[in-house]
Amino acid sequence: MEIREVAVVGLGTMGAGIAEVFARAGIGVIAIEADPQALRQGLGTLDASLSRAVSRGRLAAGEQAEIRARVRPAAAFSEAAAVDLAIEVVPERMEIKRQVFAELDRVCGPDAILATNTSSLPVTSVAAGTRHPGRVVGMHFFNPAPVMRLVEVVSTVLSDQAVPAAVAALARRLGKVPVEVGDRAGFVANALLLPYLNHAVELLAARYASAADIDRAATEGMGLPMGPLALLDLIGLDTSLSILEVLHAEFGLPRYCPAPLLRRLVAAGRTGRKAGRGVYSYGDGQPAGADSGPAGLAGAGAPDTVTLIGRGDEQESSFASVLASAGLSVTRNPAHPSDLVVIVAAVGQPVLPAALAAGRGDQAVGVHFPGGVKEEGLAELVRTSLTTDATMAAAHALAARLGVSVVQAPDRPGFLVAALLYPHLADAVLMAQQGYADAADIDTAMTLGCGYPRGPFELIDAIGAAEVLAGLEAMHTAYGYPGFAPPLLTEHAAAGIGFATAVRAGR
Ligand code: CAA
Repeated sequence: MEIREVAVVGLGTMGAGIAEVFARAGIGVIAIEADPQALRQGLGTLDASLSRAVSRGRLAAGEQAEIRARVRPAAAFSEAAAVDLAIEVVPERMEIKRQVFAELDRVCGPDAILATNTSSLPVTSVAAGTRHPGRVVGMHFFNPAPVMRLVEVVSTVLSDQAVPAAVAALARRLGKVPVEVGDRAGFVANALLLPYLNHAVELLAARYASAADIDRAATEGMGLPMGPLALLDLIGLDTSLSILEVLHAEFGLPRYCPAPLLRRLVAAGRTGRKAGRGVYSYGDGQPAGADSGPAGLAGAGAPDTVTLIGRGDEQESSFASVLASAGLSVTRNPAHPSDLVVIVAAVGQPVLPAALAAGRGDQAVGVHFPGGVKEEGLAELVRTSLTTDATMAAAHALAARLGVSVVQAPDRPGFLVAALLYPHLADAVLMAQQGYADAADIDTAMTLGCGYPRGPFELIDAIGAAEVLAGLEAMHTAYGYPGFAPPLLTEHAAAGIGFATAVRAGR
């Protein structure tokens, strides 16, 4: 099955990106787009992306012209008669997909592969409506397609075995890494990513944390390339909402049930970057207010004396050294007068009991360092129901004096970073437990599809299964959500074995 020429149907952002990927690999592309304005826009996206590559010195100007010449715009499906593969990248509505596939089925030769870039609709239903369902597969790219290296290759119970194998080989030829999976809503990456993004919207709606802090928790606290709310704006809130609806219909779990705020933002036309407004507003392409600090807390002076309360762990001793080197006077005795009481917190353990025990709940704030106390690390400032605004202001001023980047979180299990991350890790464990994909494929999907520096299982191994489990158990106790206690994680925590060890051992 040699692929020399392909058709890309639909030239929106993803279609234009996919056309670029094929053309860059030396493959001729027939770009089918019936709407002349959409065609112009799509070609504009392609040109802008190639020009940016040239201006960054990643592509020679001559190559740009050659790549561009490989893309032939067309308005009619009949132009795809001789292609070896056609991929549709049209809106995520089954009736539109079916129409496109009926046309492709009619015009393409019987050996041509027909692929859908659907991110969540059943590939099987698309295939079943065609004359040769064996040649229909999912070929799912990630946004921005020229950059993200993952391609999910989705086969159905109707697929001819050679077809997904040929598409996986093609993905490698494009410089991508294929992960081959069966036909289940959201495949690997979206089934994990979308509930996490949805959860971030729930946290925002509940005023659990500010948008900027939620995003900073992901980037600075977990090392992810983008925060979940900024990522929603990139993917499109409308697209994300439709994927969540499909996931919710398929799996029924509350984590997939779209957050009401997400629905309202979509209804208001705030669909993300493409609309100039989503969770954030984009005047000149930059989100507005992403760096705004906590409201009403400016102007407080940094404390000079701090009462430090902890459990005698490493975070406490490291933080005590940081305070001492910054010239602060530190006492361990809550009865001594001081400007601020700082309680060094641990995930899964509330701050409030220690604040009450200190007898100065109004002056007490928790601090937690998700990645340990280190330079350029992130600290979570934990506000209990007794902490006053003045205390929070002093805590922020202290962080500024120490040069520590902070996010603010309520005194709830997981604070902010783990509250966002651990359920996401639990979803990944659940997926492996269900046998849909193994730990290695899930890690590949999330690193190459979403730019994670480490996949969910590598993260669990780095944090420690027992630690993640303890955090999840605290959330499970607080919220009662069954997905927060996956047995596979309990097994790993009990046995003290990492997932990488299990993968190597072929378990
Ligand atoms: N098109 C083409 N190239 C692009 C691009 C675009 N839209 N956006 C960025 N790039 C290129 C840049 O030109 C740059 O290339 P060079 O290194 O060759 O110069 C490179 O990508 C890095 O870009 P920047 O330096 O501008 O920005 P960055 O380092 O912040 O990276 C990012 C941007 C690649 C988008 C990064 O933030 C990232 O990986 N984000 C996560 C994206 C993600 O999760 N995508 C998956 C979404 S889910 C999905 O798509 C599935 C679905 O079905 C909904």
